[in-house]
Amino acid sequence: MTKRRLAIVTGGARGLGHAMVRALLDQDVVDRVAVFDLIDGPSDDDRITVHRCDVTDVESVRAAYANVGAAPRVLVNNAGGDPGSGITAAQHGPFEDPEQFRRMVDLNFTSAHVVTSVIGPDLTDGAAICNTASIAGQMASPLFAYGAAKAALINWTMSMARVLGPKGIRINAVAPGVIRTQLWEQLEPDIDRYKESVAARTPLLSDQTPEEIADAVAFLCSDRASSITGQTLAIDGGMTMGPPIHGNV
Ligand SMILES: NC(=O)c1ccc[n+]([C@@H]2O[C@H](COP(=O)([O-])OP(=O)(O)OC[C@H]3O[C@@H](n4cnc5c(N)ncnc54)[C@H](O)[C@@H]3O)[C@@H](O)[C@H]2O)c1
Repeated sequence: MTKRRLAIVTGGARGLGHAMVRALLDQDVVDRVAVFDLIDGPSDDDRITVHRCDVTDVESVRAAYANVGAAPRVLVNNAGGDPGSGITAAQHGPFEDPEQFRRMVDLNFTSAHVVTSVIGPDLTDGAAICNTASIAGQMASPLFAYGAAKAALINWTMSMARVLGPKGIRINAVAPGVIRTQLWEQLEPDIDRYKESVAARTPLLSDQTPEEIADAVAFLCSDRASSITGQTLAIDGGMTMGPPIHGNV
């Protein structure tokens, strides 16, 4: 009997993570997925199991992993965003409360190390890790702690690639631009203002879908990307290139 290929996706209960779960299954990268999340996701597919845990807490991750009982071929460190303090640019400026800053870094960077420190030692030749960073980690960001945490995640991805490469394990990251998940509904509740602001900053003039980010993750975790490691792929409509230039060229 062939072994069923497993993926563990953190933060896979909703938003981008849920789209990643679907893409990994639909594109036949793996046969089943264990979601590590604080909340329960949709339970409409018996190839998906949800294991409640807090990815910032090593004991919680250990318990969830013991519950899964198998080593994955794919690990997606995706959980991130708002650690519950309300992610708004006004609150996350240069002099924000240090405890809030720490929580933001814990969720958006340290958690990837926490999860990988538990699961990584069991990964074998052919395995792949993908981390969800952000273009906030590639440019100066008004969300100071968030941007710094994602920049750290990108750098950590590069260092890890050097160590995991000789073991046949790849590690990459995606840097999503702007996708209207719960995160952005909090940041800019007004949909027209949101669209205008995205169009003003994006050469392709619009935001991205969870499926577009998930496609990139599925590719990076598949054997089609067998020579790619240590990279961060921005899926951002060109936002990191600077705002669109209109007119005749
Ligand atoms: N939405 C965007 O525009 C955008 C842009 C760039 C990067 N990102 C990144 O994409 C990832 C997913 O974001 P999203 O927009 O889907 O957000 P979301 O809030 O819709 O989903 C995040 C998921 O992570 C889970 N989660 C949060 N804290 C957790 C914890 N401590 N332990 C376990 N699970 C936890 C949540 O329960 C939720 O299911 C994040 O890393 C975020 O920083 C999002």
